Amino acid sequence: MSTPEPKVASPIQKVNSLRGLLPFLRPHRSLLIFWLIALAISSSATLFFPVAVRNMIDHGFAKGGSIDRWFGLLMIVAVVLALATAARFYFVSLLGERVIADLRQKLYRHLLSLDQSFFERTRSGELLSRLSADTELLRSMVGSSMSIALRSGITVIGSATMLAYTSPKMAMYVLLGIPLAVLPMALSGRRVRGASKDSQDRVADANARAGETFNAMHTVQSYARESFESSRFNEAVKRSLKAARKRIGMQSALTAVFIVIIFGAITAVLWSGARDVVSGEMSAGVLGQFLLYAMIGGGSVAGLTEVWSEVQRASGGMTRINDLLNEKSHLDSPQHPATLVMPTKGALSLDNVSFSYPSRPDTSALQNFSLNIAPGETVALVGPSGAGKTTVFQLLLRFHDPDSGSVRFDGIDLKQLEPGFLREQIALVPQDPVIFGTTARENIRYGKLEATDAEIETAARSAEAHDFISELPLGYDSELGERGARLSGGQQQRLAIARALLKDAPVLLLDEATSALDAQSERAVQQALERLMEGRTTLVIAHRLATVLKADRIIVMDKGRIIAQGTHNELIAQGGLYAELARLQFDH
Ligand SMILES: Nc1ncnc2c1ncn2[C@@H]1O[C@H](COP(=O)(O)OP(=O)(O)O)[C@@H](O)[C@H]1O
Ligand SMILES: [Mg+2]
Repeated sequence: MSTPEPKVASPIQKVNSLRGLLPFLRPHRSLLIFWLIALAISSSATLFFPVAVRNMIDHGFAKGGSIDRWFGLLMIVAVVLALATAARFYFVSLLGERVIADLRQKLYRHLLSLDQSFFERTRSGELLSRLSADTELLRSMVGSSMSIALRSGITVIGSATMLAYTSPKMAMYVLLGIPLAVLPMALSGRRVRGASKDSQDRVADANARAGETFNAMHTVQSYARESFESSRFNEAVKRSLKAARKRIGMQSALTAVFIVIIFGAITAVLWSGARDVVSGEMSAGVLGQFLLYAMIGGGSVAGLTEVWSEVQRASGGMTRINDLLNEKSHLDSPQHPATLVMPTKGALSLDNVSFSYPSRPDTSALQNFSLNIAPGETVALVGPSGAGKTTVFQLLLRFHDPDSGSVRFDGIDLKQLEPGFLREQIALVPQDPVIFGTTARENIRYGKLEATDAEIETAARSAEAHDFISELPLGYDSELGERGARLSGGQQQRLAIARALLKDAPVLLLDEATSALDAQSERAVQQALERLMEGRTTLVIAHRLATVLKADRIIVMDKGRIIAQGTHNELIAQGGLYAELARLQFDH
């Protein structure tokens, strides 16, 4: 996101962000409980193992000892350990998958609810990164790190207790070694954290860059900028590699230091233990048992340090996801939405509206703009590009709220309506038609999800799209390629018109809907649109004046203001900007 990152939080605050996962764990309580039971059994079996070994050494090898019984017991412990470990792995991995599936769904649903200004300032590649890379971090954290942490924690405590029980004297020595081991870990934690956040951010950068490039392949290739793009991507990947190498280097060094300290301490302790065995103060079995506990405990502490850095990484991911989940739409839905008489009439009014885009607060896109449109009226907006025509549509759809003044639908301020309800009443054919990477049929059906195939075909015929669709290899079932890559601009527009026709809403907004059509198909589509406009409120933006001649009223806009309005003939008579535009277009 382009919003600046808050100051680096303390490790505790950051790990606190993982609390955001709790609501996602709650629904899967039963998995959590099964996991804990399996964990308890497998940990007990692990901790019992050295006891069995000691008895085997001390009694099994002794003359007349019950060697079979102890080996049998060892076998049973091993089987229990195996089963409990498998169960533990199963439950916790499944838990991780479920929690992350829920989190992804919630995040996606939330992102869809945000307003346009959020998407204007956020790169979609970064959002994809949050949705995939960051949730992936959390998946491995819930599905594995959390398990390792708890298991290692239990084993460390259990083996420490058993160490003290087995040989208090040697346990004392081990205890003295622990601060030595923990110190370097605590000291370097902050730097590891910084490094891991850095590497994750670099990954998001590289993703965002790649996403942008794939969306602009035509431009990239037409300027022959493939090597430029791949070196830009290489730069981003290199930076992420560098950040990752820094993190991995720190972690490796940390691990080495850690192992040296732990095993050094164990060796020293064993050395003293071995002397006790030689002098007959301790049995060989007890020393064996101590050794095993020390190894189990030491291994678990090492596991904990690795997990700690995983947890840091995951909490970074959770922080970023939380930031997204805390993004609020700036367009509040009313608590008690106003209700309108159905079917709605489609009266539109903008009353003294001034507006500038949030990303450009100092240039106003509309200034003191007032326009009333009666139900069923056809109004055309004309004017030079940048005049604010599309902005009028954006406000009518409530993609943004005006800075001052009000926008009304059937006399009700848009702020009092449910945005979804409002948008149901309006069919928009946007300036750049959006075609999804699916079939022609599904693309048209987007206008009315429950439409029958016959309705789809009727809409396509009215939009002059039926003929070219039928000529596609699979007709209506032909895949159109991502963003309609397999259609011409004019075909994409006709498909977008068919979609809007199918929606059959009381208000129709056409934003340069026929700009990419040749004269012949424009005339045909125009006829279809004119039939459609009957009985509907229609706002047409067109730069070709031929398409606005039939409008009841023409509004001439410039620099966010209305500078003239009237019928074609009135405006010609007035002279001014419209007469100028008309002269350029008709007097050849
Ligand atoms: N999403 C946006 N963010 C910031 N400024 C915008 C945005 N969309 C349009 N503008 C600006 O608002 C003004 C009006 O744009 P627009 O309504 O698209 O003009 P028109 O449709 O008449 O060509 C222009 O100056 C344009 O640069
Ligand atoms: Mg426009």
